[in-house]
Amino acid sequence: MFDAHIYSTRRNKLKSILNNGIALFLGNNYAPMNYPANTYPFRQDSNFLYFFGLNDARLAAIIDFESGKEILFGDDVDIDDIIWMGTQASLKDKSAQCGVKETRTYNDLEKYISENSGRQIHYLPPYRADNSIVLEKLLGIKPSSQKKFASIDLIKAVVSLRAVKEPCEIEALEEAQKIGYEMHSTALKMTKPGIYEREIAGAMEGVCLSHGAVVSFPVILTINGQTLHNHCHENILKEGDLLLVDAGAEAPNNYCSDHTRTYPVGGKFTQKQKEIYEIVLKANKEAIQMIKPGITFQSVHFYACKIIAEGLKAIGLMKGNTDEAVKQGAHAMFLPHGLGHMMGLDVHDMEDLGENYVGYDEETKRSTLFGTAYLRMGRKLKEGFVVTVEPGIYFIPALIQMWEKENKFSEFINYSKVNEYLNFGGIRIEDDILVTKDGYRNLGKPIPKEVDDIENLMSC
Ligand code: GLY
Ligand code: MN
Repeated sequence: MFDAHIYSTRRNKLKSILNNGIALFLGNNYAPMNYPANTYPFRQDSNFLYFFGLNDARLAAIIDFESGKEILFGDDVDIDDIIWMGTQASLKDKSAQCGVKETRTYNDLEKYISENSGRQIHYLPPYRADNSIVLEKLLGIKPSSQKKFASIDLIKAVVSLRAVKEPCEIEALEEAQKIGYEMHSTALKMTKPGIYEREIAGAMEGVCLSHGAVVSFPVILTINGQTLHNHCHENILKEGDLLLVDAGAEAPNNYCSDHTRTYPVGGKFTQKQKEIYEIVLKANKEAIQMIKPGITFQSVHFYACKIIAEGLKAIGLMKGNTDEAVKQGAHAMFLPHGLGHMMGLDVHDMEDLGENYVGYDEETKRSTLFGTAYLRMGRKLKEGFVVTVEPGIYFIPALIQMWEKENKFSEFINYSKVNEYLNFGGIRIEDDILVTKDGYRNLGKPIPKEVDDIENLMSC
């Protein structure tokens, strides 16, 4: 965790934005897999981590915006816990680590909230069932209504702080990048005919674990890259396949990386694969080059879509006016997702707070068009934002066949030619980008993405 003053400063900033009521932050608990004592690896709530930094279960905290008071609620371990889990820092020590002066037992939280029941209690939308039950007990709000009554003021204030990464966070993100680089280098080396997807996925996860890290989301590693979030790893690689590898690390400091590369099994792209790959690469590189404060990410997204539509037109898969095709959404048959998302403590940063609060604002509204509606981040970029840039081209047989049957966008899509690509799969290329004062910085050591570089490395 960072020094205590980092967390105190963040809480003070929050206090300078909000001035009434109390903010309640519930940390996460262990989540059982198949019986209570057999748990998933512990993952702290990211908002709790951001303001308090403590990576332990069964903690909660309040910030009183009127008195300025901060209290950490939790319990010291007893002798049984020490026997099974070893000694642990006391609650007092934990509170000192994050600069909070007052501590109380976890059960005191209920008493504290009831003593303050006439006041506004700001809370963030819960996403874990056990914390929904705690909230119901504390505030009397049914789980089904808790999202609706979450504090929009607190959500907006938290987003405004977490969106702009501090220098210590950028360093922490760079740590995750190093692990991400090693994961992807491992995947490239292992991409050979005859190996199972699961062997490579397992080796990538092993790289994470060897650094005390975990994957920032379940590894996507597949010869069926046309399925965007494909978590099946049961195929055996064969010459001529394209292997899409979308994976990242969550470093021990809890900051994430997220990269996608697409490799030719056998080491050489076919002409057909290279043509599509070069279009995606151009979209990735030119979109990155556009990044600077003041530009909306939605406009960067549309720019990338136009490169994709123009490239597909050049090889006969699309036709007609490119601007019009993108405006109407015809390109989304090939690119049915958004260009990227914010990244930080969460790989899709702050998604628990609501995508529209994170990625949109009064000025930039979310599109309702198929494909573009999946763009998680659209608003104006600011110095300190970290976003992914991840264009792709996919041939999704069910979607192609559905649209062809409906004669959808037949003025822009050359279906007879597209049908020659039904077994193609998908290509995505993703990098993590920091918005700087006057432009951008690609985070981490570059993971090879040029055709020649990939082919040369794969021939070693
Ligand atoms: N890299 C996976 C995702 O962004 O959804
Ligand atoms: Mn991503």
